[in-house]
Amino acid sequence: MTETPVPEIHAAWLPPVVFRALGSRRVRVDGEGPLAGTVRAEVADACARFGGVAQPSSPPDLLLTVAASGGAAGSEGFLLGHRDGATVVLADGPAGLLPGFFEVVRRGEAAFDPGLADERHEPHFGLRVLDHWDNVFVHPVMGQVERGYAGGSLFWHQGRLRDDLTRVRDYARLLAASGVNAVTVNNVNVHEGETHLLTDRLGEVAAIASTFRGYGIRVHLAINFAAPVILGDLPTADPLDPAVRRWWSDTTDRVFATIPDFGGYLVKADSEGQPGPFTYGRTHADGANMLAAALAPHDAPVRWRAFVYNHRQDWRDRTTDRARAAHDHFAPLDGRFAGNVILQVKHGPMDFQPREPVSPVLFAMPNTRLAVELQVTQEYTGQQKHVCYLPPMWSGVLGFRPTGDASAADSGRTSAVVLSAVANAGDDRFWTGHPLAQANLYAVGRLGWAPGRDPAAILDEWISLTFPDAPPRLRRTLHTVMDGSWLTYEQYTAPLGVGFMVRPGHHYGPDVDGYEYTPWGTYHFADRDGIGVDRTVATGTGFTGQYPPPWRDRYESLSTCPDELLLFFHHVPYTHVLQSGTTVIQHIYDTHFAGAQRVAEMRAQWRSVAGLVDPAVHARVTERLAEQHRSAEEWRDQINTYFHRKSGIPDAKGRPIH
Ligand code: GCU
Repeated sequence: MTETPVPEIHAAWLPPVVFRALGSRRVRVDGEGPLAGTVRAEVADACARFGGVAQPSSPPDLLLTVAASGGAAGSEGFLLGHRDGATVVLADGPAGLLPGFFEVVRRGEAAFDPGLADERHEPHFGLRVLDHWDNVFVHPVMGQVERGYAGGSLFWHQGRLRDDLTRVRDYARLLAASGVNAVTVNNVNVHEGETHLLTDRLGEVAAIASTFRGYGIRVHLAINFAAPVILGDLPTADPLDPAVRRWWSDTTDRVFATIPDFGGYLVKADSEGQPGPFTYGRTHADGANMLAAALAPHDAPVRWRAFVYNHRQDWRDRTTDRARAAHDHFAPLDGRFAGNVILQVKHGPMDFQPREPVSPVLFAMPNTRLAVELQVTQEYTGQQKHVCYLPPMWSGVLGFRPTGDASAADSGRTSAVVLSAVANAGDDRFWTGHPLAQANLYAVGRLGWAPGRDPAAILDEWISLTFPDAPPRLRRTLHTVMDGSWLTYEQYTAPLGVGFMVRPGHHYGPDVDGYEYTPWGTYHFADRDGIGVDRTVATGTGFTGQYPPPWRDRYESLSTCPDELLLFFHHVPYTHVLQSGTTVIQHIYDTHFAGAQRVAEMRAQWRSVAGLVDPAVHARVTERLAEQHRSAEEWRDQINTYFHRKSGIPDAKGRPIH
């Protein structure tokens, strides 16, 4: 099978010129081990390119070293400062050298300012992992990459590991520079062929792991809960069966014998048709703890996903509420998971919609280690055809305070200890299909280090790296196009948090009733009088009761529920007046006209910077903006027309509705 040749690959946020400040100086790297070796090689390259001196015999301008009083070997923290006329990175351990190096790269000339005050850097989340939904074999419906919008898999091509893993190495380098430290290489829906990655095809995972290793990135594997039956000739996968437990323990030992720094397992069980402990009358704690026991001798975690709900719901049944499912299943199990189980919770209670409340599971399990799961791949946010800069949404999630007290210290944030994100970068020359979608990929790692960082500042940093020497006009235009793009996307799609008005299956474009009478539990209940899902305790599904106070009361009451989530929590008449002072129906019209109009402006703004951007990047973004514009108008017209027909209420401003 021949692989299609790829055109020149875009350098993303690491074009050679960003190494200029460092590469034109005298730089010494002290330290042992493979990561120190990687940093030394990076420095040698940069110095060769820009005329500096690597490992000089005279005093350096930049010293990267492991601090004498260093912390744990795996600690990624470091101090950046100025000592005796040189910039220094004092790493806590060898693992801190690489992040310290990239901090200097990101700073450019500013890193060499003699006035540089000491700064301590340490990742907020110890594990910052990107989950790839890559299949080994091309799936008949989902393709090579499930929900992938950037070409094929970086790892596999039509059933085989790629012969050339150069791009995986380049990807590892990009991820390390953004702050990510782990990657899951295969889809959470582990089909039969992919199940073999755990055993007879483990060599492929080992090859990928050695490619990532040099950049401090560990490889995780999504496993099939039924693997003992599929691979082990056992009659059962019952987690309490001694033979099954032995199988997992032996298999896991072999994984570590092959990949000593293997990162851990990721499991989607009893979810959307995947096998799990329910088949055997066991709990999710039983299932997760079995895998945890196999991994514990190797000091590695199992991430167990909380995305468990009834996907065969009867739409006529108004008592079942998919939003409740994760909390209903998992909150009662708090305290019953082993210490190396990490429960991985989608950031919202439904499924990566453009607007959802923060999942209440993140505040309901104080005795369980939690991961919060974001979606970089833009399944429901425009599929990398639309510009949609997501960090403002993610910041809201990561900074959400269950106490409702904005002045609360960091401890008031979600108790998640792991940041995970579904990120399907692919073999597209721009990595993410839409060149501007690279900013989302970049931002995850940066938020993993500092979740409180301002999304606009992260964007600014990304612009400096990706568009080096950008003139102020280009920088301004990128901010104008991208900063508010998530809110623009929200404006022209499903209104006020109601979600899921997408075309079933592929999830692109509008289809207001597409999911309304399906078994998936994603309904909006629009009729001639009103719209929205009553999730109150008083008259609805009781979902609001899963939040701690004061949020349960805020969401429960029509008068305090935030406008943007109104239809997630309440069913209201079209004439209901929002806190903004406008009616629901008029809000729908206004935001849909405004959102589509805004995309037209974004197009014009992008056109105006044509001479300031690499023509290939400009052309790709131009082409995608044209599609975004077409799609935004389609959304506008379908949503407005649908609700005009349902409600019979005209637009107060008399604009065209079809
Ligand atoms: C969504 C998505 C699926 C995916 C699932 C998951 O439902 O559409 O493709 O498998 O999430 O997160 O497991």
